Amino acid sequence: MLLGALLASAFGASVAIPLTSSLNPVDLFSRASISSGCSSTGTASCSNTSAISDQCCFETPGGLLLQPQFWDTDPSTGPSDSWTIHGLWPDNCDGTFEQNCDSSRAYTDIAGLLSAQGSSDTLDFMNTYWKNQGASDETLWEHEWAKHGTCMSTLETKCLPSGSAKGAEAVAYFNTVVKLFKTLPTYEWLKDAGITPSSSQTHTLADLTAALKAGFGSTPSLDCDSGAVYQVSYYYHLKGSVIDGTFVPINAPEAGSCPSTGIKYLVKSGSSTTTTKTTSTTKTSTSTTTSATGAPTGLPTKATIHAVQNGAQVGGLLSLGTWSTQTLATFTLSGSATSFTLSSSKGTCGVSGGVFACGSGVSSTFSAVTSGNLLLLSYDGSTSFSSDKVPSGTTVYAVNTGGGDSSVYTLSIVST
Ligand SMILES: *[C@@H]1O[C@H](CO)[C@@H](O)[C@H](O)[C@H]1NC(C)=O
Repeated sequence: MLLGALLASAFGASVAIPLTSSLNPVDLFSRASISSGCSSTGTASCSNTSAISDQCCFETPGGLLLQPQFWDTDPSTGPSDSWTIHGLWPDNCDGTFEQNCDSSRAYTDIAGLLSAQGSSDTLDFMNTYWKNQGASDETLWEHEWAKHGTCMSTLETKCLPSGSAKGAEAVAYFNTVVKLFKTLPTYEWLKDAGITPSSSQTHTLADLTAALKAGFGSTPSLDCDSGAVYQVSYYYHLKGSVIDGTFVPINAPEAGSCPSTGIKYLVKSGSSTTTTKTTSTTKTSTSTTTSATGAPTGLPTKATIHAVQNGAQVGGLLSLGTWSTQTLATFTLSGSATSFTLSSSKGTCGVSGGVFACGSGVSSTFSAVTSGNLLLLSYDGSTSFSSDKVPSGTTVYAVNTGGGDSSVYTLSIVST
């Protein structure tokens, strides 16, 4: 393999690639992978001046690609000296984006798919560096593929070599994400500029972005929560296919949510083993680190969702996301209390046209807020949901977001 040429073409000859000891360049290209047959030197996505018809070799409309990485500290995920992978997203050139583009390819058992198609090394890496917070990593992988990967034009099945195994394009997605992430050692880049995690020190946005630009060559965006950085996103245009094209670094088209000064880069506490489900065993040395924020820290990974009206429970949600007084469904929650996705046995849950439903191919982001001793589901800043009528017996009602319908209630998340 023309490794040097590949590296140069993959990341632009002018961009220095710091290869620290933990980043073995050979490893980047040793895995089994399909080939797109596309040129990786043509027009970069979002840079064309006339229409390009071969959308298998030109990423469109999602030609503004970004690789977000998490720095999770509450609870911590992943190694204490590495950021972790969030995903690879195909934004449209104007920053809007498509999502969940093909529910028929919303694969489950990503781990099995990777193992079966010669990408166990990618899977091993993901097990360490592509971490979910408070739920299984597999759930996050499935979510990222279904929500973002299925929207990539160059990964449509018609673009694959004939005879490709089912799911080969998802395997290619994960291989590419891991390959890219290995060229983006955020922790090392910050450390090279003397910036290391601390519970008290603060930084300016300019200092943080300058340190990352020195490594990446372009300016990434940084997101903060309560003044602490928790996410970085590196942006690219792409020449060729997501499978094996050239990712060209570009400046983030807009700044993230961090303020310009006073940014904390918190220490990963090693509290990733927080006891979410304490059985009646003795709590030994697990020190209870009380969170400084009022937001709930423990989000159950499996829960039933109860409807609470005037202080009393009236049934709850079934697997399609309807309100009923029949036996409630178990939902899987993936993410953190401030941002998570929900799914039932029918599929992911989301809001479309103001109606909550599961298994319709829509996935939305929810948050949870505490109210007394309840953990309430919140959508778009509101914990109110409503239906036309109160269900009984075998009748079910659609759940609308907001309190606009005659029967208003909140939805309480109850760990199973
Ligand atoms: C770039 O190509 C895409 C896909 O053919 C097309 O939709 C878009 O309009 C083109 N952009 C310009 C500026 O011509």
